[in-house]
Amino acid sequence: MNTRILEPSASNLEFCAELLKKGEVVAVPTETVYGLAANAFDDEAVLKIFEAKGRPQDNPLICHVNGFEMFESLTCERSKTLFNLVNRFWPGPFTVVVKNSANLSRFVVAGLSTVGIRFSSNEILNELIGLCGFPLAAPSANLSKRPSSTCASHVFSDFNKKIPAVLNGGQCELGVESTVVKVDGERCTILRPGFVTLEMLKSVAENVEFGAGVVQRLSCCDVAESPGLKHKHYSPKAEVVVVKGELSKFISYVSGKLNEKVWCVVFDGEEVNFKKFVLTYGGTLNEQARNLFSVLRKIDDLKIGKVFFRCSPEHNLGLGLAIYNRLIRAANFNVINLES
Ligand code: TXA
Ligand code: MG
Repeated sequence: MNTRILEPSASNLEFCAELLKKGEVVAVPTETVYGLAANAFDDEAVLKIFEAKGRPQDNPLICHVNGFEMFESLTCERSKTLFNLVNRFWPGPFTVVVKNSANLSRFVVAGLSTVGIRFSSNEILNELIGLCGFPLAAPSANLSKRPSSTCASHVFSDFNKKIPAVLNGGQCELGVESTVVKVDGERCTILRPGFVTLEMLKSVAENVEFGAGVVQRLSCCDVAESPGLKHKHYSPKAEVVVVKGELSKFISYVSGKLNEKVWCVVFDGEEVNFKKFVLTYGGTLNEQARNLFSVLRKIDDLKIGKVFFRCSPEHNLGLGLAIYNRLIRAANFNVINLES
């Protein structure tokens, strides 16, 4: 099967809905990253996602809905906090993990009693869900452990011949995956940071905290509230080293270390400090988020063996923390701190 990249015309959307109704897997755009979607009620279809990605079956999938009605059909959780959160952050880059009250495929929830649900702001995706009439289970559309996909060509390079179609929604606007928050009554735990930050969550919910493993490696005695935290993630083939500190210290640290196989990745404008073997990933945090996964993929295209990734104190909070969370996983927690 050759994978077709389809423009989101009315007839192509119909075609993709038919594929999904028949139990096939279709890659779809969202405002964060591309997803690999299947009917969330269909065991066989959902298993095809795990197989295509090489994803461990203990890692649950997010169910994408196209509105509040479909959301309410999946969970009986009705706390005030949940109501306030979804009303404030949906449609958008925000996933809630709540009690599962539907007859979803057991593979979607990986045997847990909870389910992750997201109402994305991507209109192509929402129209497709409307045509299907069922929620779409969709993890990020990348091979397991590899960087997520932020354009159709990334999806194509990971899944050509494995899935029938990719709906092309252009480049993803945001570039890092949704904020995942577990809501249990009035208690909220951030399982994965994203565009919806701690500060934003605190503006609508009283009781919010980070789960274990968000900005540090889980220790052997921590319980992973989100199974995804246990697994290796976002990695290019190259060895990634995150280097925290001021530009001058970064320059001294990498000086003498760069060559054809060892590069550095810095903020836009800083590349002038290096003669060669340098890539950039954006100036503002928004740009860095949008470019992060493309740059991680480019490192492999250029067959680079090792990269030093620049980080600054801006990466300690807000959107910076979401970027840092992905970077330290890409680096397998290899962080050099030049700040102290
Ligand atoms: O932006 C996004 O969230 C993208 C787009 C496609 O929507 N999706 C995405 O899915 O990033 P995925 O599967 O790559 O990451 C979902 C994360 C995983 O770490 C998973 O362990 C966690 O959410 N998760 C899903 N359901 C959960 C549940 N019931 N309990 C705890 N964690 C859950
Ligand atoms: Mg993923």
